[in-house]
Amino acid sequence: MTAIYQRARPIHWDEVVGQEHVKDVLRAALERGRVGHAYLFSGPRGVGKTTTARLIAMTANCERDGVKPCGECPSCLMVRAGSHPDVLEIDAASNNSVDDVRDLREKVGLAAMRGGKKIYILDEAHMMSRAAFNALLKTLEEPPSHVIFVLATTEPEKILPTILSRCQHYRFRRLSDVEIAGKLARLCEQEGVRAEGEALSLIGRLADGAMRDGESLLERMLAAGEDVTRAGVEAALGLPPSERVAEMARALAARDAEPLLTGAG
Ligand SMILES: Nc1ncnc2c1ncn2[C@@H]1O[C@H](COP(=O)(O)OP(=O)(O)OP(=O)(O)O)[C@@H](O)[C@H]1O
Ligand SMILES: [Mg+2]
Ligand SMILES: [Zn+2]
Repeated sequence: MTAIYQRARPIHWDEVVGQEHVKDVLRAALERGRVGHAYLFSGPRGVGKTTTARLIAMTANCERDGVKPCGECPSCLMVRAGSHPDVLEIDAASNNSVDDVRDLREKVGLAAMRGGKKIYILDEAHMMSRAAFNALLKTLEEPPSHVIFVLATTEPEKILPTILSRCQHYRFRRLSDVEIAGKLARLCEQEGVRAEGEALSLIGRLADGAMRDGESLLERMLAAGEDVTRAGVEAALGLPPSERVAEMARALAARDAEPLLTGAG
């Protein structure tokens, strides 16, 4: 079975949690056929940058009428599977030589194989060498009309200003505990698993703003094949049980922690 964060990756704009300032603007632009040619997505890990880049790719190349992306046409399915010939995810960290970029520039000029848009998703864009950036610049200055670039990075301050100025920059934010717990609750429902609200809130807090981390933690709990409980989460993660912590807090408040801390309590 695939990892939950792959199965759980949104295939419709509505399923993207938070990031309203990003998704609403992009969605509207795509609906009006006014999609840009170069985007920079920055923000912490696991908050929806790659997800949103793939949604752009799906929306731009969806083959069905109606609300796009449909998520089910051949083109959408290929994007979801990572096998669409015109949607290229490139890890800039390992393809950052000038030759790599030159190669990319040559291919950018070719028409899309399936006749739609070509989407280049450059992950870890801050890892590109200066020379590679400069080679890319030429393409970003005059991208062919059928090409969309999405640069994704956790470190936007490392992107050259000349590149920055050619991209529409969208900043993704950390997600709140409540946003994370909310999606986890929906996932549990889909998977037919019972989960305590308190357990999901705890996972939401531990995920520290990253939906991917929240989903991975939930997956660990689901692997046990039992209901997801607060006590179960605490045990799985080696956290002190909340009752014991509450007891300590009460004792500390009463300036009476000594016996607890020394184990005599
Ligand atoms: N805003 C979100 N709404 C719903 N699900 C999300 C969101 N962000 C992340 N996820 C979930 O987390 C998984 C990983 O997210 P994604 O790959 O988009 O992160 P990223 O921002 O590109 O992180 P990285 O910087 O590590 O590449 C997705 O498959 C999805 O299930
Ligand atoms: Mg990513
Ligand atoms: Zn489709």
